Amino acid sequence: MIGGPRGAQRLSERLAVDKAIPLCRKYDVRVHVDAAYGGFFRLLAEEGDDLLAPDVAAAFRAIDEADSVVIDPHKHGLQPYGCGAVLFRDPNVANF
Ligand SMILES: Cc1ncc(COP(=O)(O)O)c(C=O)c1O
Repeated sequence: MIGGPRGAQRLSERLAVDKAIPLCRKYDVRVHVDAAYGGFFRLLAEEGDDLLAPDVAAAFRAIDEADSVVIDPHKHGLQPYGCGAVLFRDPNVANF
């Protein structure tokens, strides 16, 4: 498993999403981004905007390349009731 995007835990290393994606593509590993909490900050990371540090913005923009993403509108989407979404690049992956 390759985990991201920030910090390091005791038994693992984490890579920023933009660094993890080329590695996953090289080894044919699917990329899932748990953006439940921070996913809405992707909106602050458009090319040319100076709202985030360049490395942080690059990591957020790389979410676009993921195979799947979880995002929780009840967090920074400011929805007042619990709701979450999982988005698949290939919708057939969601058919178990
Ligand atoms: C990164 C991340 N993923 C998943 C969750 C789980 O969210 P919930 O239990 O609200 O669906 C959280 C909760 O804060 C989170 O921060």
